[in-house]
Amino acid sequence: MTISPFKADILKGKVAFITGGGSGINFGIAQALAAHGADIAMMGRREEVLKNACDEIKSKYSVRTFYKTGDVRDADMCAAALKATNETLGHLDILVNGAAGNFLAPPELLSPNGFKTVIDIDLNGTFNMCRYAYEYLKQSKGVIINISANLHYVGTLFQSHVSAAKAGVDALTLNLAAEWGHDGIRVCGIAPGPIGDTEGMKRLAPGEVGEKLKRAIPLGRFGTTEEIGMAAVFLTSSAAAYITGETLVVDGGHWFAKPPMVPREVVEKMMQASAKKPS
Ligand code: COA
Repeated sequence: MTISPFKADILKGKVAFITGGGSGINFGIAQALAAHGADIAMMGRREEVLKNACDEIKSKYSVRTFYKTGDVRDADMCAAALKATNETLGHLDILVNGAAGNFLAPPELLSPNGFKTVIDIDLNGTFNMCRYAYEYLKQSKGVIINISANLHYVGTLFQSHVSAAKAGVDALTLNLAAEWGHDGIRVCGIAPGPIGDTEGMKRLAPGEVGEKLKRAIPLGRFGTTEEIGMAAVFLTSSAAAYITGETLVVDGGHWFAKPPMVPREVVEKMMQASAKKPS
């Protein structure tokens, strides 16, 4: 991790539970929270991935770690993993709902079960975790971070299933923030754009596709898992104590930048022509 702008102990004494925390963006979040003092619990489907991630975190940061294999689509597994975390690490202060499924598919070729699978993982899985974390977070006056996306702000080809799921996640963020604010629980989201150092990105935008995509991002590059981690540190820290219901977009300006209707060189020529004084 590069040098953080935050104090190293701002999350000391907190316990963070991250679904899908063993890899990709979620592992970046787990590392960033650990680097600022939080003990880390994670759930995912692959034991080896979880074990390696926890070993790496323990070797880098002096925090406690705990993992349990499980699938967020199974509400009983969610409840059991949260209970085991509470028993092992003592409390729960931060829940990050990062587990997600993603693949490219045009809707006319996507099976109903394919669509349902992504809704089940991203949306229903997020609800399951929030539902069973509620009692613990009420005690700690904790924070939920739902990992969203920027796909559904516009129409995104081959991503109707993920867009629908993430739109639902954003609605859940807002509604749970309204429901649970009185209990002292904050509910926020992070909407990452294209993040370069992930398996998903290598799979979804390899080679020239990736380079083309970079040119469509105002900041001219992909983000990093560390940058998503820093957003999570901010939102879970006391610096964000009065922020709830908000989904923070961390995408280099990707979603709102549209390809120009007229190419830049042409607009430049138009500007030069219009600046000439009439003779
Ligand atoms: N294109 C179209 N349909 C797909 C698909 C693809 N690439 N991948 C899965 N599906 C469909 C399956 O065909 C199946 O539908 P069917 O029963 O009608 O055939 C349905 O989705 C469930 O697939 P299955 O593989 O049995 O589900 P799973 O629960 O084991 O895994 C995913 C679901 C989304 C996790 C899995 O597809 C996957 O591993 N994706 C890539 C990894 C990933 O998403 N990582 C997260 C990065 S954000």
